[in-house]
Amino acid sequence: MPPLYFRTSGHLLVCQGPNCQARGSALLHKALWNHLERQSLAYYKKGGSLRLTESGCLGSCSFGPSLCVYRRRESGLQEAWYAAVDFPLAARIAQAVHEGTELPAEHQYGPEQQPALSP
Ligand code: FES
Repeated sequence: MPPLYFRTSGHLLVCQGPNCQARGSALLHKALWNHLERQSLAYYKKGGSLRLTESGCLGSCSFGPSLCVYRRRESGLQEAWYAAVDFPLAARIAQAVHEGTELPAEHQYGPEQQPALSP
């Protein structure tokens, strides 16, 4: 029998690389985790829909704590990248993903904020 699959509204990843940890990303991850638990936003809670994972370096080490999010939209997979994330911003990002609303623009960088670099 395959593992149980949980459909989610999105997946948030908080960098735990050394530079982001030096800027408080371990505490940020813990605080966000507690928030998803308390607000029943975590995918395994009734009515919850979010995954949250620690990640390795996301490549924006001088601007951490870094967070990225992936979610499914009608137009396809959306990704959003954030730098200098604090708990209030992380909580707003999580709420937007859960509700399927527009993601906060502040501190966002990446594919929807600037043209992708050519390989
Ligand atoms: S250590 Fe977090 S982006 Fe590199």
